[in-house]
Amino acid sequence: MANSFGIDLGTSNIKIFSEESKSIFVERNMIAIENKRNLLAYGDSAYAMYEKSPANIVASYPVCNGVIADIQNMETLIKYFITDLSKGNLKPSDFYVAVPTDVTEVEKKAFYDLIKESGVKAHKIMVVEKAIADGLGLGIDVKTSQGVMVVNVGYATTEISILSLGGIVLSRLIKVGGFKFGEAIRNAIRKEFSLIIGEKSAEKTMEQMLELERAGEPALVFGRDIVSGLPIERQIPTKLLDESLMELFSQIIDNIKVILERTPPELGADIRRQGIYLTGGASQVVRLAPLIERVTDLKVNIPEEPTTTVALGLAKVIKDSKFNSLAYVIEGMGR
Ligand SMILES: Nc1ncnc2c1ncn2[C@@H]1O[C@H](COP(=O)(O)OP(=O)(O)OP(=O)(O)O)[C@@H](O)[C@H]1O
Ligand SMILES: [Mg+2]
Repeated sequence: MANSFGIDLGTSNIKIFSEESKSIFVERNMIAIENKRNLLAYGDSAYAMYEKSPANIVASYPVCNGVIADIQNMETLIKYFITDLSKGNLKPSDFYVAVPTDVTEVEKKAFYDLIKESGVKAHKIMVVEKAIADGLGLGIDVKTSQGVMVVNVGYATTEISILSLGGIVLSRLIKVGGFKFGEAIRNAIRKEFSLIIGEKSAEKTMEQMLELERAGEPALVFGRDIVSGLPIERQIPTKLLDESLMELFSQIIDNIKVILERTPPELGADIRRQGIYLTGGASQVVRLAPLIERVTDLKVNIPEEPTTTVALGLAKVIKDSKFNSLAYVIEGMGR
């Protein structure tokens, strides 16, 4: 039997549901190239080289702000990931790809072209709006539900969407997410402690903040002291990091408010009843959910695994004939 794959092509993580193995695979969406030509590593092992490699090795993310920026490397990655998931034996398969709503038609079509051109023996290529898949993955029957607000805070983007009766009523993609959170943390540490830290350290620190605050402990970071130029370890009070994130949290909340203001009143009433659904890896950042709750006066629902809800929704589109109609073919995409 032909296999089906559901792909959520995130800027930082690629999530792939494979019908055959009934599981969701998550790896860094990163490739490491040596001497501009040779594939050295991909996925998590490429990320292990990031910020650590000599000049002739370049580790990069081919997706930028939720859209495909480096087509060739992304094709290579898809080919390798799908081949690995097929245990080296590629066979004709169907592909369901989640796409952001608030991007151009050309950018949407690029997701289709990517699968078609990557040499993975695609039989059928279908597209599902990312927010629709997200809603399904949250366990919402998006086909019959009215007025559902989903806010997906990823690495490069936050997508705010209003769903109703299987469609998207409003959607906005803003360039705020885990990357910007990390950048704010790096800038604050540089300014207050004259310490330069890497992206990876900032990301790790951000992910640990909730735990640290619960334990009442400062964050421990390694970096380079600007004055002495030497590598040092330093304790950073988490309060400083919290403060550095507030401006970005405000941007997300302001956009949520704008979307709420534009939502037709009948749907607004449904959202008030159900609250906001918060997904995406970076939605777990400490204090964001309670702040949204306080400012909007709406309940915030948080899933157990916010990183994989989109892929989980794609799995439902693939497995449940009731939801199969939520996948479609982009105009101009030949089969
Ligand atoms: N516990 C945590 N606390 C805070 N942030 C976290 C946590 N776990 C993961 N993240 C952040 O989540 C982000 C990755 O989330 P996700 O996989 O949803 O993004 P993506 O889909 O790759 O990006 P995008 O949707 O913008 O294309 C990273 O920035 C990561 O640091
Ligand atoms: Mg994402």
